Amino acid sequence: MDKALPIRKAFCVLSAVAVAVVLASCSSQQPAADKPVENGANASEPVQVAWSPDMDCTTCHTAEGATMEDGAMGACTHVQQAQAVCGTCHTDEASLAGVHEGATATDTMPKKLKATTVDAKTCQAAGCHDESQDEMLALTADVADLTDSQGTQVNPHEVMGKTAGHADILCTDCHTMHKAKVNAADTCVSCHHAGVYECNTCH
Ligand code: HEC
Ligand code: HEC
Ligand code: HEC
Ligand code: HEC
Ligand code: HEC
Repeated sequence: MDKALPIRKAFCVLSAVAVAVVLASCSSQQPAADKPVENGANASEPVQVAWSPDMDCTTCHTAEGATMEDGAMGACTHVQQAQAVCGTCHTDEASLAGVHEGATATDTMPKKLKATTVDAKTCQAAGCHDESQDEMLALTADVADLTDSQGTQVNPHEVMGKTAGHADILCTDCHTMHKAKVNAADTCVSCHHAGVYECNTCH
């Protein structure tokens, strides 16, 4: 069941954002950690800089920066195939500017998104994954990963928006970008706790 799915070789329409992140091709090697720290992390007092979408994000977000070069990560695939930069996916500039108020390079970097999301609209922007729902379903028509204990098989691209209970499911729940790949089936168990893709039948 390892049918290779076509990876869309799209060139996302980039905004004016020209973040100086790695545009090099992906490799399994760790990126060099010898980048000069520009904003004073070496000085005794952390220097605060105003956030702007075209600054170098990786001076602070080194972990996410590294995933842009790690061939096992979704972020890297997007660098290779769509020349993605941080701002291609992190588009909510107003919220991000707020989140970064007072942020310094010596702060603890976030482990997950709290104030913002990378939503379906961003993934499906013109020039990116702007397929119709039928085309989306066709991409995963042969994927049988989502089969419950009663044999009910669900197309992964059918789940989002299927019912009210699925309103908050994101593309990125299944397609992580800076984290190891997740099994789509693992994303169901938090709600379908009994391993059955229905509710209100047992209780
Ligand atoms: C000076 C260091 C610094 C730089 C430069 C920086 N960040 Fe951050 N960033 C932070 C810190 C600290 C936080 C956590 C803030 C908090 O939670 O209070 C953060 C949070 C975030 C978050 C999490 C938002 C959420 O939903 O909770 C994202 C996404 C992010 N940064 C993206 C970027 C991008 C994109 C850039 C470059 C355009 C960038 N950052 C540049 C320090 C930085
Ligand atoms: C956030 C909770 C949540 C998650 C996560 C979730 N579901 Fe559901 N699912 C529900 C709820 C609640 C219902 C009952 C219908 C409703 O209220 O929307 C449901 C109903 C269903 C149904 C029956 C739909 C129908 O037409 O009656 C299927 C099939 C299903 N889910 C599949 C999945 C699969 C496959 C996944 C994982 C990819 C998944 N769900 C993830 C909450 C969830
Ligand atoms: C419930 C999990 C789930 C959700 C939600 C989901 N996908 Fe997928 N998607 C999969 C699986 C499973 C595959 C097939 C295996 C793979 O490529 O990871 C897939 C395949 C794809 C592919 C083909 C990838 C390739 O390697 O050829 C694209 C493109 C894609 N999805 C985009 C999206 C977009 C855009 C969204 C949101 C609108 C989305 N997906 C939502 C599970 C999901
Ligand atoms: C292809 C889309 C994409 C690109 C490019 C991208 N991100 Fe993300 N980012 C995401 C998604 C999706 C998440 C949610 C967690 C995940 O999927 O790994 C996320 C999460 C984050 C977080 C929250 C902490 C975490 O790792 O979960 C930060 C901070 C962040 N990204 C910063 C950046 C920075 C800085 C860059 C550029 C070096 C960048 N991102 C490039 C999609 C992207
Ligand atoms: C195959 C049978 C079965 C299905 C289908 C099922 N459940 Fe349950 N659920 C149970 C059982 C048995 C319990 C009680 C034992 C336990 O807590 O595990 C339970 C307990 C719960 C509880 C805790 C209730 C309480 O009062 O403490 C919640 C909440 C819940 N289920 C939600 C859901 C949701 C939401 C769905 C659909 C996404 C669902 N269940 C589908 C069998 C099922």
